[in-house]
Amino acid sequence: MLKLKEPIVKLDLPFEEALFKFANFNLNTLPDPLDEETEKATPFVKWVGGKRSIMSDLVSRLPKEFNNYYEPFVGGGALFFEISSKLKKSFLSDINLDLVLSYNVVKKDPLKLIEALKIHELKHSEEYYYKIRSRQELKDPIEIASRFLYLNKTCYNGLYRVNKKGEFNVPMGKYKNPNISQEKNIWACYEALKNTKIEYKEFDSIKPSLGDLVYFDPPYHPTNETSFTNYTKLDFTEKDQARLRDFCDFLNKNGVYFMLSNSDTNFIKDLYKNYNIQFVSAPRFVNCKPGQRNSVNEVLITNY
Ligand SMILES: C[S@@+](CC[C@H](N)C(=O)[O-])C[C@H]1O[C@@H](n2cnc3c(N)ncnc32)[C@H](O)[C@@H]1O
Repeated sequence: MLKLKEPIVKLDLPFEEALFKFANFNLNTLPDPLDEETEKATPFVKWVGGKRSIMSDLVSRLPKEFNNYYEPFVGGGALFFEISSKLKKSFLSDINLDLVLSYNVVKKDPLKLIEALKIHELKHSEEYYYKIRSRQELKDPIEIASRFLYLNKTCYNGLYRVNKKGEFNVPMGKYKNPNISQEKNIWACYEALKNTKIEYKEFDSIKPSLGDLVYFDPPYHPTNETSFTNYTKLDFTEKDQARLRDFCDFLNKNGVYFMLSNSDTNFIKDLYKNYNIQFVSAPRFVNCKPGQRNSVNEVLITNY
């Protein structure tokens, strides 16, 4: 239960004094009762390229004010969940179908999802992992989402990799106590997703309007040959990076704010040379060789 140390406003004050206190009262300094009773939502999937390590850089570069929020490469949605309580309406999208379906299941049926995850949690073993991994033809959304989340929480490094047929093929990871059912967090994500539409679509099919904000976190332009950028069956090529820049130009002309993360390469800096480029340093864990898991420089590009 929330306990306040001091009453916020004493009701036995003389009227003039009380009026003065109310007039100067800053609502933002009030503790939010929800903070103490509900867990703050965090990404319900582990996702390569998750943004937790550079979160303060991202938040500090947001425009002071904007209307609706768009995140068309949503992945784990680290920035969305960080700022969700302050957003009006949000539009999240991605071309990973299982991921998009899982967001919609968290939004529409968290209870059944948690029940299904608890069963996976109970049965979890190496043999069970590979049995569930081999089930590719599921039809029921709860089964698809719970399989996807179970594999995501127990596979090697939370990687998402599929073969040419689109079948998930990451081996099991070595976690002692993977948090498979994540009950409190699923409920917190359900709350965070209330005013949100989550769709399966290409990044340039979104339709933001004047004053909206789009945060782009695309697969990064590779800094060397072993960089991991393949999130789905399709690679994100330099042609796609250029298409993304063209889309940013289009948004810019239409008065939409955009913020974009990418790697610090000459190709990317040249593509966005007409915009503001800020450098941030982030630890990365996407290389095959353990020795190469160092911090890398990223760029944060904005049109404001
Ligand atoms: C770098 S990850 C996003 C990470 C995310 N911001 C986070 O915090 O976890 C890139 C995402 O883009 C998605 N993606 C790749 N190509 C896409 C495309 N053409 N249109 C929309 N989404 C795409 C991938 O499925 C992946 O989820």
